Amino acid sequence: MGTPQPPATETTQTRTPAWALAATGSRDAESAPPVADVELGPTGRPRRSIPEPSPLSSHGPAKIIAMCNQKGGVGKTTSTINLGASLAECGRRVLLVDLDPQGALSAGLGVAHHDLDMTVHNVLVDPRVTADDVLVHTRVEDLDLLPSNIDLSAAEIQLVSEVGREQALGRALYPLLDRYDYILVDCQPSLGLLTVNALACADSVLIPMECEFFSLRGLALLNDTVAKVRDRLNPKLTVAGILVTMYDSRTLHGREVMSRVVEVFGDLVYDAVINRTVKFPETSVAGEPITRWAPTSAGAEAYRGLAREVIHRTGR
Ligand SMILES: Nc1ncnc2c1ncn2[C@@H]1O[C@H](COP(=O)(O)OP(=O)(O)OP(=O)(O)O)[C@@H](O)[C@H]1O
Ligand SMILES: [Mg+2]
Repeated sequence: MGTPQPPATETTQTRTPAWALAATGSRDAESAPPVADVELGPTGRPRRSIPEPSPLSSHGPAKIIAMCNQKGGVGKTTSTINLGASLAECGRRVLLVDLDPQGALSAGLGVAHHDLDMTVHNVLVDPRVTADDVLVHTRVEDLDLLPSNIDLSAAEIQLVSEVGREQALGRALYPLLDRYDYILVDCQPSLGLLTVNALACADSVLIPMECEFFSLRGLALLNDTVAKVRDRLNPKLTVAGILVTMYDSRTLHGREVMSRVVEVFGDLVYDAVINRTVKFPETSVAGEPITRWAPTSAGAEAYRGLAREVIHRTGR
């Protein structure tokens, strides 16, 4: 995939990257999901009809989704919390993994992560510590967390000399797979060893992308890393989808970037689009998902829509 060009130089040619096809299968009209009506969504496409998720009579094995983008501040952590809470609202059992030494995921769920004796760091570097030793239940039913804090920043260096250093997270999560329907891993803004650990054990990558031009450019580098991990470590890895965040439909720039993203990535772009709103920073302070803090807000509804799409695409 080449670096996408800015909207101002758009051509009529639609480029479909190989990884997009690998993730979604054929884009033939026959294989596209049926369109029930012609209401246009924020992506400018007709909204796809997504059925209500069916209740589950049993749980697991979990699908692992890495929430990944090496660009900082694009909504990875916010999306991990709120997709996780929305999946739990749908009756799914969800585990969130904080794989960022900043600990923002833990803080955003009201967990006092600075004071924790044991975190994901211990699970990764000490074979005597299991994920159950650090697992905490959040205030949201069916939403659990493996918390982190700044201690995790040492893990990349400590793991370097380990045999199977890219599989440390996978080894830790394996015993939990039967208990959960989804495990969402919140990655740090880098493509270092911790992020490679997430990609090496994930079924798919969900890419939150801030709706601005420079975000498009970074996706080529992320694509290269996903392709390398797929070739060398994890052949099942696909791209689950691209989530456009911080969208402002009132600006021409926002609308132009949106149309370019849809042109380049096609069906990979979720219909759910997250608007820019101050409610999200407020929820971080409150330590709650938006689905609890402002349950009827547009932001909460958007993440519920994303959860329905994720369930529909993964069939879980
Ligand atoms: N849709 C939104 N509208 C407005 N602000 C948002 C939105 N989503 C997230 N934010 C805010 O933007 C900031 C960055 O979001 P977030 O922490 O989720 O990004 P991130 O990709 O995880 O960042 P990092 O790369 O540092 O881990 C936070 O202050 C968050 O509250
Ligand atoms: Mg983050």
